[in-house]
Amino acid sequence: MSETSTKTNIRVQSETTDLIIPSLASITGIHDLAKNIKLIQVQLDDLAKRERFIYSPGQFVEVSIFGVGESPFGLASCSARGDTLEFAVNRVGTLTDALFRLDVGDQVGIRGPLGNGFPMDMFKGKDILVLGGGIGGAPLRPIIQTVIDNRVDYGKMTILWAARSPDLLVFTEEYDQWCSQPDVSMHITVDQAPEVWDHEQGLITTLIEKINPSLENTITVTCGPPIMIKFTMMTLEKLGFRPEQNWVTLEAKMKCGIGKCGRCNLGGKYICTDGPVFCFSEVRNLLESYV
Ligand code: FES
Repeated sequence: MSETSTKTNIRVQSETTDLIIPSLASITGIHDLAKNIKLIQVQLDDLAKRERFIYSPGQFVEVSIFGVGESPFGLASCSARGDTLEFAVNRVGTLTDALFRLDVGDQVGIRGPLGNGFPMDMFKGKDILVLGGGIGGAPLRPIIQTVIDNRVDYGKMTILWAARSPDLLVFTEEYDQWCSQPDVSMHITVDQAPEVWDHEQGLITTLIEKINPSLENTITVTCGPPIMIKFTMMTLEKLGFRPEQNWVTLEAKMKCGIGKCGRCNLGGKYICTDGPVFCFSEVRNLLESYV
């Protein structure tokens, strides 16, 4: 066997291992993102692993805490912007509670990158409608960053951002920077608005109808709770969007993250390996069992 092919085999083998065996990573930053939601930043300790950890918007990692367990988190960072991995954590259970108690310098385990990702090359030349709900906005941030960093490759980007209340809106400190880019606009809505509120009030579906986005040469990307995805897709269809124009990222009770345990199945698909990103035309008939 030639030296080249031996090196190639070693590389492929170790990349597969990255998906199965957690790699040590150190926490480099923890930031409050919204009420009960933190953004955790980590770097893989092994420099070689750090270099080869290339991922696409929409992919996820399994994060483990020693003695506690493991859970999937959508990556909120952009591979092209550096080797710090970021993910948003909502304090809802044992593992997220343990993550909230960690400090900068503490170690976690990381498996990944897992799942597919949004087909950003296919989106080139298109107008993009980004529809984020609550912490579901986190996996959409790398799409926004990719479009901003490669502005000439994409058409107009319209961001519709929703949450139950203002204190649950994520990445608020970045909105001005996003909106200062050419051909980027943003609309924010909350279910419960305070007395003084400069944005919209109501569900994201109401906002979509109000904005009435152009159908032509537009693709949509949606991430949020299952019920929000269901009604968002219904609204887009009502406005004339074809299922092929709509992309969603789904969440599920995942365990292995690599298509082995069968826990995340949706119809004949595994969300962890066939997704979590799907063209709506692929999952339209499965959505009833998802919600
Ligand atoms: S999480 Fe195990 S098959 Fe998807």
